[in-house]
Amino acid sequence: MTPIQLTINGQTKFIEAPPMKRLLDVLREDLHLTGAKEGCGEGECGSCSVLMNDDLVNSCLVPILQAEGARITTIEGVAITEQLHPIQQCFLENGGAQCGICTPGMILATHHLLKKYPHPTSLQIQEGLSGNLCRCTGYIRIFNAVQAAALAGVAE
Ligand code: FES
Ligand code: FES
Repeated sequence: MTPIQLTINGQTKFIEAPPMKRLLDVLREDLHLTGAKEGCGEGECGSCSVLMNDDLVNSCLVPILQAEGARITTIEGVAITEQLHPIQQCFLENGGAQCGICTPGMILATHHLLKKYPHPTSLQIQEGLSGNLCRCTGYIRIFNAVQAAALAGVAE
């Protein structure tokens, strides 16, 4: 077991875990943050996406040792009040979430995208979300939700 310190959603956490335990499993099992989902477990689907030091990462591919000292944001840290974050609201209003398995990752990928491109083109949206797969929506409603979030000035 290795002692690890990291900041999760603004709070410092100390845990002990095997050094190769996946960040995804630490979040879900040790910290009871179940928003990040396991889809493929191989870095292909993005359902386990979290922000690590402001980069979008697949938490199924990150050994916890690599996250030592990192700042992690999960979907649980996106809405800081009891109200939905504006990006979540745009997904809700545009039908960008159906079964919801991909949605936490999509919201974090959108967050990351809009930080980089506050007013993204369609191509930038498609590229920005290209690591996140959705089996339900056909993507158009998700892209509409991202456009709506950009129009609402979410990143400004
Ligand atoms: S579960 Fe991590 S990328 Fe699919
Ligand atoms: S809403 Fe079901 S996988 Fe995207």
